Amino acid sequence: MKIKDTIAEEFTEFSKNYTQDMIGCVPHYLTLMASFTGQLPKNFDSKRILDLGCGNGNVTATLVQEFPDAEYTLLDASQEMLHLCKQQFKKYNVNYIESYFQEYTFQKDYFDLIVAGFSLHHCNSEEKRSLFKEIYKALQSGGIFSYTDLMLSKNNPYHPTLLKEWKVFVDANFPDGEKWKWLQEHYREFDKPDDYLDQLAWLKDAGFTSIEITTRKGYWMHLQMVKC
Ligand SMILES: C[S@@+](CC[C@H](N)C(=O)[O-])C[C@H]1O[C@@H](n2cnc3c(N)ncnc32)[C@H](O)[C@@H]1O
Repeated sequence: MKIKDTIAEEFTEFSKNYTQDMIGCVPHYLTLMASFTGQLPKNFDSKRILDLGCGNGNVTATLVQEFPDAEYTLLDASQEMLHLCKQQFKKYNVNYIESYFQEYTFQKDYFDLIVAGFSLHHCNSEEKRSLFKEIYKALQSGGIFSYTDLMLSKNNPYHPTLLKEWKVFVDANFPDGEKWKWLQEHYREFDKPDDYLDQLAWLKDAGFTSIEITTRKGYWMHLQMVKC
């Protein structure tokens, strides 16, 4: 795969074999996906859900099992990713929004669950900080923000070790080395992960008080927090 000019174009290309590529390229992908439903409080019910950077719908596919009657808003910059979701979620109540996060107007106190799976690392630090504030405002009181991603910045002293371990994982799944080569270009061009400690501080700044790291596999993490 060749690297594209924009996130939207890049993920339209990536969409062709998306789930298998994610399983083979992202350590713990399926475990982290399972956290979106597996880590919710036992009696939590959801009626309005926002999936930020829904991709081909892997997070929403887990949520519709638990909340089949909820109203879903699936937002992504890639038209093709949204097209894959439209084919998959025909029998559910879903609004589709083709937009960048930065251009989306979040409705105040509207959602009771906002999820983001491996999508916010495409935002830089400032964009994440401002997005966390928008997410907090858009949640109803008692609503949950549930977020999974790589949470280690490229400047962190551990980063070179992460890259070495990551390469071993990807090469084991794609032995010809081409996938790792492509992934490195994609990572350089489009990925802006931040350290989890910084992100925890920004989430607190946004207003969240109880933030849990519910799943941690090295720096591949799932965070969950409630708007009190
Ligand atoms: C790695 S995929 C994750 C998809 C899915 N949530 C999952 O967990 O498998 C990232 C998705 O976020 C979207 N995305 C990245 N940055 C975005 C932005 N700034 N605004 C809207 N969508 C964005 C991409 O188009 C892509 O579909």
